Amino acid sequence: MDELKAVVKGVLFGRPDGFRASLRRRWAASQSDAAGEVKARPVPVPAPAAPDGFHRALSASSLAPGEVVEVMIGEQHLALCNVGGVFHASSNVCPHAGGPIGEGTLVDHALTCPYHGWAFDVRDGSCAVNAEVKLPIYPVKLVDGVVYVKLV
Ligand code: FES
Repeated sequence: MDELKAVVKGVLFGRPDGFRASLRRRWAASQSDAAGEVKARPVPVPAPAAPDGFHRALSASSLAPGEVVEVMIGEQHLALCNVGGVFHASSNVCPHAGGPIGEGTLVDHALTCPYHGWAFDVRDGSCAVNAEVKLPIYPVKLVDGVVYVKLV
């Protein structure tokens, strides 16, 4: 019976001298420096913000009027829209069920989520389908052909 348990344990967790154990040892070694101190994991850092809190998002010329694109600033997923030369930024996470709203379609100021078709006004985040739901909107400014977004 003990032999069977050892076999099952070996299959599930690997042998102490097996391949998976060597991977675990190598991974553990990579997490600490020579003194054995655990190293801090690298964390993505948002692009440095200007003193006014705005982050560089993209070049205005890369987003034509009527287009929407997904961008990431640090760990923040955003949808950027160009409505007739005026840029708008919102969360890229649809408040309905988390759809990637930046993959949706833009008609005038209405950004429609590709998952279930809820439409949001990119100026204020209001939802045409459900008045109780709002898409988070971020301040945007255009300086010298570059779109900046303030993460709040
Ligand atoms: S997830 Fe966007 S409409 Fe459902």
